[in-house]
Amino acid sequence: MSYLEATQNLYKEAALTPDVGLCCTTNPVWELPGLQIPRNMQDMNYGCGSTVRARDLTNNPKILYVGVGGGMELLQFSYFNRQKGGVIGIDIVDEMLEASRKNFIEAEAQNSWFKRDFVDLIKGDALNLPIEDNSIDVAAQNCLFNIFKTDDLKQAIAEMYRVLKPHGKLVMSDPTCEQTMNKTLRNDDRLRALCLSGSIPIAEYTKMLTDAGFGTIEIRARKPYRILDPKHYATDELIYIESIEVAAIKDPMPYDGPCVFTGKAAIYYGDDDYFDDNAGHILLKNQPLAICDKTSGALQALKRDDIYFSESTFHYDGGGCC
Ligand SMILES: C[S@@+](CC[C@H](N)C(=O)[O-])C[C@H]1O[C@@H](n2cnc3c(N)ncnc32)[C@H](O)[C@@H]1O
Repeated sequence: MSYLEATQNLYKEAALTPDVGLCCTTNPVWELPGLQIPRNMQDMNYGCGSTVRARDLTNNPKILYVGVGGGMELLQFSYFNRQKGGVIGIDIVDEMLEASRKNFIEAEAQNSWFKRDFVDLIKGDALNLPIEDNSIDVAAQNCLFNIFKTDDLKQAIAEMYRVLKPHGKLVMSDPTCEQTMNKTLRNDDRLRALCLSGSIPIAEYTKMLTDAGFGTIEIRARKPYRILDPKHYATDELIYIESIEVAAIKDPMPYDGPCVFTGKAAIYYGDDDYFDDNAGHILLKNQPLAICDKTSGALQALKRDDIYFSESTFHYDGGGCC
C-alpha cells in the first residue's frame, strides 16, 4: 500500500469515527456574530491553523477548498461569501465527503444565513484537480500538503497554481519543522498521514511555492504545534514542530526574485520627513513600513544609520512595500 492510500484509509476512519485529537488544532473555536459551528464539525477539525481571512474574500471570490475534513473551514468561507456554489470542496475520500455533507445539513439548521448549496462537494484528488485552469480566486488547503512527499507536494502546488486566476491567492496552513527528521519518521506512513512527520522547514516550503511561480508570499502566522520525543517516537532528539499560515499569490515573478513577507519592517528615523530609496520605497519618518525580505536586504545594503530593521515576526498582515 502506498503512503497516499494509507492516508486515505486513515481519513476514511476519521470520517466514520470523528477523532477529536487527530490533528492538534492551534486555533480557538471561531466566535462571529450569527455563526454556529455544529459540534460534529468541531470534532472533525483536522487542521492546524486557519486559512480563512475576511480580507482575502472581497468581491465575491470563487473559492476552492482541497481536503474538506468535516467542512468547518468551508462553512467559515461561506460565512463571508454567501453565494450559491461560492465554495467548491474537493476530497478524495468518499466517507469524508459524506460526513461533511451531513455536517452542512446540520449547519443549515443552526445558521439562518447558510444554505447547503453554498458549497459544491466534488470527489477529486489534490494531485489532479477536477477544476478548470485560471478559474479560482482563492484556493485553500489546511494540513493536507504537509503529508505529501516532495514530488507529490510539487504536483499539488502546481495544480493549485494552474487553477488560480492571475493574482489569485493560495491560502494554507501546515506544520513545519526546522529540524531534520530521520528516515524512519519520514517513511512512517501513519505518522505522515497524522501530519506529524512530513513537515519541512519554512524556507523550503516557501521555496517550493516560489519555484512553482508564485511571485508574492505572505507568512501570516507561526505557532507551536507538536513535540516528537524519544520516549514515544523513533527519534534520539526532541523534535519541535510548528505550524504556519501562509498565502502564496499568483502575481508575476518580479525580475529580481519573489517578494516574501515574513513580518519584517523598516523605520526611518533621520532628519528629513521621509526617506526615498528611489527604487519604489518611501519610508515616512517614524512610521513602520512592512517590507519583504528582498527589500530588507536591499535597504540594509545601503548601510544607513537612520533606518531601523525589525526581525521577522512571521505575522505579516498586509500593506507595505512591493
Ligand atoms: C488532515 S485532514 C484536514 C481536513 C481539513 N482541511 C481540516 O482542516 O479539518 C486531510 C484531508 O484531506 C483529505 N485528503 C487526503 N488525501 C487527499 C488527496 N490526495 N486529495 C484530496 N483530499 C485528500 C482527507 O480525506 C482529509 O479530509
